[in-house]
Amino acid sequence: MSARPQIGIIVGSTRPVRVGRPVADELVALLESAGADAVMLDLAEIRLPLLDEAMPPASGVRTEPHTIAWAGRIEALDGVVFVTPDYNSGYPAALKNAIDYLKSEWVAKPAIVVSYGWAGGRSAAAQLSAVLGYIGLALQGEGVQMPFASTDFDESMRMIDASAFVGRSEAALRESVELLVSAAAEELVAA
Ligand SMILES: Cc1cc2nc3c(=O)[nH]c(=O)nc-3n(C[C@H](O)[C@H](O)[C@H](O)COP(=O)(O)O)c2cc1C
Repeated sequence: MSARPQIGIIVGSTRPVRVGRPVADELVALLESAGADAVMLDLAEIRLPLLDEAMPPASGVRTEPHTIAWAGRIEALDGVVFVTPDYNSGYPAALKNAIDYLKSEWVAKPAIVVSYGWAGGRSAAAQLSAVLGYIGLALQGEGVQMPFASTDFDESMRMIDASAFVGRSEAALRESVELLVSAAAEELVAA
C-alpha cells in the first residue's frame, strides 16, 4: 500500500475573528477524499516572530528553535494549500513572513493557492503566486478564488456559514485539490 501524501493547509490570516480558519477547516474533507492526509498549519497558532535569523534562508542555516520547527513541518509535507485573504490588494504580512523563513524546504513542493475576498482575493492570489513561483514551488493550475457575497456576513462582519461559502466553489476546489494531491503522490512515488 502506498503512503498517503501529507498536504499542509497554511492559514495565512491571523486575526482573532477571521474567515481563514473556518475556510481552511472546510478543505480538510476535500483533501481527504482526494486521498491525502491534511495537516493544519495555522499561522495564528504557530506564531512565528518577525524573521529573526541572522543568515538568509538560502544559506540553509537555521538557528532559532521556531525556525527549525517550522522548517521540519514544511519539509515533512508532500504538498501545500496556501489559504489567503486579500489585504489591501495583497496577501497578509504574517504569510509573507512565514514564507521568507525558508527556502530549500519550499523548492519543488507542489502547491495551490486558495484565496477569498470581495473579488475572490485575486490580487492576493496573483501576488502570492508570483512569490511562490519565484521561490520555486511547483504551482498546480490556477488555484481557486472564492468571492464573498454581502449575505455571507452578519452585521458584525462575522461569516455566517463558512461551509456554504466554500460550498459555492466546491467543484473548482475539488478539481484544484485533486491536481495537487496527484502531483504530491507522484513526488512520493519518485522519492
Ligand atoms: C487589513 C485588511 C485589508 C483588507 N483589504 C481588502 C481588499 O483589498 N480586498 C478585499 O476584497 N477585502 C479586503 N479586506 C476584507 C477581507 O477580505 C475580509 O475582512 C476577510 O474576512 C479577511 O480575511 P480573514 O477574515 O481571514 O482575515 C481587508 C481586510 C483587512 C483586515
